[in-house]
Amino acid sequence: MSPRHADRLDRLAPYMFAQLEQRIHQKREAGIDVISLGIGDPDMPTPQLVVEELRRAVQRPDTHQYPSNRGRQVLRDAIADFYDQRFDVRLDPGTQVLPVLGGKEGIFHICQVLLNAGDVALGTDPGYPVYTGGPLLCDAEPYLLPITPENGFKPDLSSIPADVLERARLLFINYPNNPTGAVIEDGDDFFAEVVEFARANDIVVVHDNAYSEISFDGYRAPSFLATPGAMEVGVEMFSLSKAWNMTGWRVGACVGNAEVVSAFWKYKTNVDSGMSDFVQLAAAKALTDCRSFPDEMSAIYQRRRDLVIEALRTIGLEPNAPKGSIYVWARVPEGHDSGSFTQLLLDEANVVVSPGSSFGEAGEGFIRISLSTPDDRLREAIERIEESMRVPA
Ligand SMILES: Cc1ncc(COP(=O)(O)O)c(C=O)c1O
Repeated sequence: MSPRHADRLDRLAPYMFAQLEQRIHQKREAGIDVISLGIGDPDMPTPQLVVEELRRAVQRPDTHQYPSNRGRQVLRDAIADFYDQRFDVRLDPGTQVLPVLGGKEGIFHICQVLLNAGDVALGTDPGYPVYTGGPLLCDAEPYLLPITPENGFKPDLSSIPADVLERARLLFINYPNNPTGAVIEDGDDFFAEVVEFARANDIVVVHDNAYSEISFDGYRAPSFLATPGAMEVGVEMFSLSKAWNMTGWRVGACVGNAEVVSAFWKYKTNVDSGMSDFVQLAAAKALTDCRSFPDEMSAIYQRRRDLVIEALRTIGLEPNAPKGSIYVWARVPEGHDSGSFTQLLLDEANVVVSPGSSFGEAGEGFIRISLSTPDDRLREAIERIEESMRVPA
């Protein structure tokens, strides 16, 4: 007998990075030195202060029992304080802050909180795969809006057909954006447009704020919640993963609209038993005592971004230099599609990049290069790419 699984699992495409990891593994098994510029996972360590705080906290027996889903006061206060000072956004730590086990968990599970079977969740194409998987796994329907250079990587909310809009309950947006690196510039009224749209159509907005702290050239990313009216219509999923090099710690927070936060809390009391208390204490330390750490990381990523942009220009591509996130999004050369160019780089240069098409159909014709690789390996990857693209004389 082969054990049956639920039909809804068959609706999911294989998780893209699982495929990439398999390809890297096969090459490495064959003794080949593969450099991966595929996954966005910071290569540098968590701030030492945070590690020390964890060491201290884990020795306290009161951190060894079940944590509370509500989160420790010290962490909720630290998040609210951070939002106040960094984004000029006031949050009530008692009702508007809920720790999540990383943004990914928050994004996935909030679908269960907000969507009924048959509802529509709006997201972007290309976009983070969980905006699709989350809705599908609660029998809802993802509807993806293309984001392209032509529309400045902002979805055209007026393009949604009336019958889809009628069933839409949730909108995912994400700036600084993965995979395109697009940001909300000063004077851009896209967030205000989203608030209007959400109000008019009774849709909850989830702004995925995974990358706000990594930015370049003096740019500072805003919080969606700083937009007038945003607190009425939505929440933001904040994460410590990228900016404090804490992807392995699984720390984030759902912040904003108190009713959504409260419903999410009710849901989570049935799903997990909260974030380990020692992790919460260390995360609070990151937010209170390591405020400038993301700026140090941004400077490193900016240097790497410049290396990559220059190399891509050398091989004849014309990428835009992103102002935020840890990715460069570049059109593939003439005569290639995302898949064939990714394959070429893997075969000829032993360098892994992410094919744009794996983030959605509108990502076809692009690749995504992650900057989370040490400088020397990044330089080596760039040299190999340049070498493999050199036309024989
Ligand atoms: C757009 C976006 N959102 C959310 C996440 C999830 O991050 P985490 O679960 O580590 O907070 C990622 C991770 O790559 C991401 O790229």
